[in-house]
Amino acid sequence: MPISILAIESSCDETSAAVIVDGKVLSNIIANQTVHEQYGGVVPELASRAHQENIVPVVDLALRKSGVRKEDLSAIAFTQSPGLIGSLLVGSCFAKSMALALNIPLIGIHHMQAHVLANFIDDPKPAFPFLCLTVSGGHTQIVLCESPLNMKVIGETLDDAAGEAFDKSAKLLGLPYPGGPLVDKYAKEGDPHKYRFPEPQIPGLNFSFSGLKTAILYFLQENKAKQADFVDVHLKDICASIQHRIITILMNKLVKASKETGIKEVCVAGGVSANSGLRNALQEYGAKHGWNVYIPAFQYCTDNAGMIAMAAHYKYLAGAFSPLDTIPSARAAF
Ligand code: KG4
Ligand code: ZN
Repeated sequence: MPISILAIESSCDETSAAVIVDGKVLSNIIANQTVHEQYGGVVPELASRAHQENIVPVVDLALRKSGVRKEDLSAIAFTQSPGLIGSLLVGSCFAKSMALALNIPLIGIHHMQAHVLANFIDDPKPAFPFLCLTVSGGHTQIVLCESPLNMKVIGETLDDAAGEAFDKSAKLLGLPYPGGPLVDKYAKEGDPHKYRFPEPQIPGLNFSFSGLKTAILYFLQENKAKQADFVDVHLKDICASIQHRIITILMNKLVKASKETGIKEVCVAGGVSANSGLRNALQEYGAKHGWNVYIPAFQYCTDNAGMIAMAAHYKYLAGAFSPLDTIPSARAAF
């Protein structure tokens, strides 16, 4: 019998379901919630309600697209932590009900581990041990991976995440939420060296982005006082310069981690790994310094159930199942 797993992701504002058979992702359906745009950020209560509406059609479509019948499923997986608790509850209750009804095992997944394992969905796959820079709206981590289920965070942000740095900068520029992809878009046509933003001096492999946000705020206040339409006129150069600084902060720590560990297998994961500047910087540095660089396909960078399914496959092989009374949690270490 093939190992067929239905996986559900509902940690933040994407409702997603995927089906994986013997380690191959056959479907990955993602429903984006647009309701939050008008508020400039994710509203937890609205996210939970949207998950309630989306979850049945999304799961139904994921099953239909994969061609796998629910009677033939081997297990149901869901994102257990971290995330917005109301959002996690929708996915976990749904997953538990299905596991109970079908009398098959339940598998709780750590969202950040799943982001890392998104690198195993397509070929080529990284070899162990490898380093993964996980950069999302809520996290910024350098993870040392010894095996699919053995990972250690060796560096992380002390304040804002890289995605937050993008989104908060975009907000200061008057761009809609989430601003990361827009900064990326405008940066493509701007000069990354036009404006110089500070690089924080944080010891070890940890990151900090809150100083950058403050520096951008003062920079904009000062320039707008001199020229009211400063942002409109220089938007592309400002975006390119902000993006350049975020990328150099990330790359410098990743390079340090590689030198300290001697590991040249390097992956990236999380929503910010969709950033074209970061992808280019990784490829360029990697080509010059003998790194093997792995970047997931775009649909597996931002939140998706395909990565939850991949993590669930490894947990299934290890027999790491969750009891039906397991509960989600907003925060949890690996
Ligand atoms: O992993 P993800 O989808 O959700 C979380 O778990 O947080 O990451 C979302 C983050 C947001 O901050 C968004 O602005 C950022 O990823 N993001 C980008 C790009 N695409 C998504 N940031 C910069 N450039 C992009 N192209
Ligand atoms: Zn995520």
